[in-house]
Amino acid sequence: MKNIFDKSNFGNLKLNSRIICTGLWQTEKFKDTCERYEKISSSGVGLIITEIMSLHAKDKFSEYAFIIDKPDFIFQAKQLAEICHRHDVPIFGQIEFIKFNRGIDLDIAVNDLSIDDIRKIQTDLIIAAKKLSFADFDGIQLALGNNFYLSKFINPYYNQRNDEYGGNTFNRMRIVLETIKVIKNTSNLHVNCRINAFDGRKGGIDKKESLEISKLLEQYGADSIQITRPLSPVYYTKENKENELLDFTKTLVNNIDIPVILGGGFHDMETMNNLLNSSNIEYLSMYRPFIAESDFLETWRKDGCGVSRCKMCNNCYRTKTSTCYHF
Ligand SMILES: Cc1cc2nc3c(=O)[nH]c(=O)nc-3n(C[C@H](O)[C@H](O)[C@H](O)COP(=O)(O)O)c2cc1C
Ligand code: SF4
Repeated sequence: MKNIFDKSNFGNLKLNSRIICTGLWQTEKFKDTCERYEKISSSGVGLIITEIMSLHAKDKFSEYAFIIDKPDFIFQAKQLAEICHRHDVPIFGQIEFIKFNRGIDLDIAVNDLSIDDIRKIQTDLIIAAKKLSFADFDGIQLALGNNFYLSKFINPYYNQRNDEYGGNTFNRMRIVLETIKVIKNTSNLHVNCRINAFDGRKGGIDKKESLEISKLLEQYGADSIQITRPLSPVYYTKENKENELLDFTKTLVNNIDIPVILGGGFHDMETMNNLLNSSNIEYLSMYRPFIAESDFLETWRKDGCGVSRCKMCNNCYRTKTSTCYHF
């Protein structure tokens, strides 16, 4: 019988549970962030993936967002890694950006990027990975899903380039595959990719192409994959219990040999264990439950059952904060 608190091998890493805390949006002072990471990492989580760490200062989400080219970035990142490692929990940094700025030209469309721009994006991602490696992070997450910039680059809805970076799936993925190869060849980092199972746009990415994308990622060195969809929290409320990513994830785990993480709407241990035992899915991610109560997993572990107090009201999402509106 599988259990969310099983230990397992996750690529080159050992995890103390199957629960991944994903994407904590940073809207606090660094001291508060450290306290939050201490509580989460000591509670029984398997892996922590940070919120988006901005590649460029102008692209930040909030006043307190991590910005990779700030002078104190490695110093702060190292402190987070130390906290997690003290509790035997690996940590990945999520890297990406929303808009690509070329000097005074803000928000350049995917089709208007020059080859030099593409090289700049790849270099910035590689430098970000290097900095996280210096800070003792165990891995990175390339955010290729939701509505981040690279999710648009790889999407036929946005990408109508007629050079080697546009056209078929492989060409649209080339920017990512080349980047992964360099990161894997120059570091020991675990590379996770977060992708959309589908994006719901006519002419966009569907489940068939996502499967093809996942296979390419595996072939070119990605160590694991996390499944998401654009505007993910909006689809998971108390009223809507259906997880539309489930069928795709069940198919995906039977088609690739690297670990796959499924998230969205999980909030009670019994349902999560039932899912683990009725499918080949091995890893489940949670986000809002950790905002509502950082160390709830400790109680779940002791009691062998539990339900998150998160009401899935999405006030944290609407107000772009990592603090809970209710608790
Ligand atoms: C306030 C807030 C901030 C988020 N920030 C990120 C982020 O920086 N990167 C990311 O990939 N997902 C982010 N997400 C999406 C979550 O990772 C997750 O996919 C979503 O909340 C659904 O999972 P849940 O039901 O476990 O909360 C955010 C969600 C919320 C509510
Ligand atoms: S604000 Fe709402 S969705 Fe966010 S953590 Fe609190 S209860 Fe959950």
